[in-house]
Amino acid sequence: MAPPPVGAGDGLHPGLAEPRTKEDWFGYVFYEPPSRPLLPPYEVYLAMDEDDAERRRLNRSRNRYHSALVLAWTPAVRRFETEITELLAANEMAPPGARLGLLIDGPPTVGKSTLVKMIARKFEQELREDFPERFDPDRLGDYVPVVYISLTDQVTPKQISLAIARYLNVPTSGTKDTIDDRVLTALTACGTQLIIFDDLHFLDCSFKEGRASNDHIKFLANHAPCTIIGTGVDLENSPLLSEGGPAVPRRHSGRTRTPAPAAAGDVRTQTAGRFSRQELAPFALDSDDGILQWVGVIRSLERSLALYRHEEESLTRRHWRYLHERTDGSIAGLHALIRRSAVRAVQQGTEAITREVMDSIVLSYAHERAYAKVTELKSRRTARTAKQKRDDKRAAADGSA
Ligand SMILES: Nc1ncnc2c1ncn2[C@@H]1O[C@H](COP(=O)(O)OP(=O)(O)OP(=O)(O)O)[C@@H](O)[C@H]1O
Ligand SMILES: [Mg+2]
Repeated sequence: MAPPPVGAGDGLHPGLAEPRTKEDWFGYVFYEPPSRPLLPPYEVYLAMDEDDAERRRLNRSRNRYHSALVLAWTPAVRRFETEITELLAANEMAPPGARLGLLIDGPPTVGKSTLVKMIARKFEQELREDFPERFDPDRLGDYVPVVYISLTDQVTPKQISLAIARYLNVPTSGTKDTIDDRVLTALTACGTQLIIFDDLHFLDCSFKEGRASNDHIKFLANHAPCTIIGTGVDLENSPLLSEGGPAVPRRHSGRTRTPAPAAAGDVRTQTAGRFSRQELAPFALDSDDGILQWVGVIRSLERSLALYRHEEESLTRRHWRYLHERTDGSIAGLHALIRRSAVRAVQQGTEAITREVMDSIVLSYAHERAYAKVTELKSRRTARTAKQKRDDKRAAADGSA
């Protein structure tokens, strides 16, 4: 692989913010999270003074390491990797027109952005290995196989083109037509194969702009020689997939969802004919397979801990159900809880993630609310069982009297 661009691995934050330019993206492709620090023997660590600079340095590097933790190649990530890789292969030399794209639809913080970036990063890393000549700095013009655009709220078609133009470093002056034209020329010149639109639900859905946004995505899908992947929340009800009345606000239950019936007068759009829509749901414990997947993710996070006294596999074997209740099966909640607990375990010197440490962490509002509901339900169930037992005892006593 070519050497990392300036900025990568220098201890700052390359690849941690959302990429907005191709240079940011290259930084992300080369970014390696902090490696696991080498821990001196526990006795040596304990013998270090609290104010010892060496101890401070060690704990700071452990915190940096735990704050990144590992990203898990979950079964869902693998499934979408296969899907996207197949789409890219099927579209590579396809004639212009209706190239098939993919919309990944899922509730907030289910891991959509992380997933598409992990997959696109791996895709580019493999291209860099297989075709080093394409990335030769002496090559005329940059080769940019991946364009990653994180949309901002109420984004209009022109803003989408502007965002691609900025990403590819082409001039952004002029009318929408001029910019569109430059963007298409640049995408072809840069050999872009994959365009990712993250947070597509930010497309302006107003009556006036909704149709235009839709037409614009269709325009890009037709004219850019690329595979387009979109992610978003409730895309099913976005004007991308159906016209006919305003978008219907729908809450994600977080579990496998059945498609909503089309609204009266619903017309499937031209983008609906170009994109498949697949769901990314939180982990559910309603099947053996679901449990195995959840336990597998916990195991991969737990194995990466750099703590002195953490009991091996204790989270995986003893606390998997608790972790599901705490986080509502969300990978974001799980990742945050383990990250925060690891930092606290170092800070407080417990050096282990225990139930006590995890109980002391306050997660996001949404996760705490979901957990409160579970605990309330459980305590009601316990009270009911206790009452039932008392009633049975009383009935038995009355019967024998
Ligand atoms: N595969 C993964 N392995 C480990 N942690 C993950 C993974 N995917 C997501 N996470 C954790 O979940 C957090 C939220 O993920 P992400 O931002 O990708 O979700 P999202 O679905 O894009 O959310 P939103 O809808 O709010 O944009 C990440 O910051 C990370 O901590
Ligand atoms: Mg996201």
